[in-house]
Amino acid sequence: MAGCSFSMLVLLIAALALASRAQLCPDFYDHVCPEALPAIKAVVERAVAREPRMGASLLRLHFHDCFVNGCDGSILLDDAPGFTGEKTAKPNLNSVRGFDVVDEIKNAVNEACHGNVVSCADILAIAARDSVAALGGPPYMVLLGRRDSRTASLNDANNDIPPPVFNFSQLLSNFRSHGLDLKDLVVLSGGHTIGLARCTSFRDRLYNETNIDRGFASILRNYCPTSGGDDNLASLDATPARFDTAYFNGLLHGRGLLHSDQQLFKRGQGVSDGLVSFYSANPYAFWADFAVSMLKMGNISPLTGNRGEIRMNCRKAN
Ligand code: HEM
Ligand SMILES: *[C@@H]1O[C@H](CO)[C@@H](O)[C@H](O)[C@H]1NC(C)=O
Ligand SMILES: *[C@@H]1O[C@H](CO)[C@@H](O)[C@H](O)[C@H]1NC(C)=O
Repeated sequence: MAGCSFSMLVLLIAALALASRAQLCPDFYDHVCPEALPAIKAVVERAVAREPRMGASLLRLHFHDCFVNGCDGSILLDDAPGFTGEKTAKPNLNSVRGFDVVDEIKNAVNEACHGNVVSCADILAIAARDSVAALGGPPYMVLLGRRDSRTASLNDANNDIPPPVFNFSQLLSNFRSHGLDLKDLVVLSGGHTIGLARCTSFRDRLYNETNIDRGFASILRNYCPTSGGDDNLASLDATPARFDTAYFNGLLHGRGLLHSDQQLFKRGQGVSDGLVSFYSANPYAFWADFAVSMLKMGNISPLTGNRGEIRMNCRKAN
């Protein structure tokens, strides 16, 4: 049987409190399939070695899953009779990626476990963790035992995932509506220490904003003209394949790529300026706090017990 034993005493107090509330635990698959986590890690490491950006894409999938009706694997569902899925929602369309790697993971895990025991929602949480580690970030514990939704919502994806045009107070209230706080907002935005964004996500910032480094803007304008080139890519920080503090350091110098990134640091005038400076100078604090905030994000309304299902194929309900 998959389940949580009570060998959780070794956990951080915070983790314990979260775990008991959401009924997730670190050892959920330890008895039913001890091969599961190593199998996932192997596929993630191979995928990231093939293409470092995939680590960023897998991290983002978990975020976009959790922010829409909880971490329930809904983002992975293709459109089906009865609902239009989340893949074509504005924040996801032509943007989220990694679905093939998730399929690859699911197949590897079903094989390693001789059956369908690991949920797609848990696969996203584990793949995000392994991706961060593969790009030089902190190892951290994930809690497990989520089950998969049978449905997805295009509207909820459009409404619940924050867009890059949001100002600081909009970002903060979006995070609060997900049970996350100011510190989580800053720390989790640090996920932008890896990966890329399309011109269409940052064009207005290059041409219309003042809280931006002029040299930085002028270089990027070459790759992101006022019209055309919508899908041209730029790095979210100076080291897009390394999980470091370059993201925060960039913000200090007006080199946040997205409007929403730079909202977190406003040259001494912003509410979270102090946190950005702090993380920029303290990589280990960023790592430790990232682990805690990821745990919180991973605990957003999971389906547990006999709610939901373990999907056989992450793209469709059983
Ligand atoms: C705070 C609000 C956030 C906003 C407004 C936001 C917005 C965006 C946008 C617009 C992109 C580029 C999409 C594109 O152009 O195709 C992006 C990429 C990314 N985001 Fe966020 N994001 C936020 C928070 C987060 C969080 C919490 C995480 C994870 C902890 C995250 C992880 C990523 C990653 C890793 C990428 C790069 C993906 C890739 O290269 O495939 N973001 N985000
Ligand atoms: C942020 O955006 C909202 C919605 O457009 C607006 O009402 C609010 O005044 C803005 N806040 C700041 C500080 O600009
Ligand atoms: C910049 O602002 C102007 C005036 O508000 C607007 O017309 C334009 O669409 C914005 N974006 C760009 C890329 O110029």
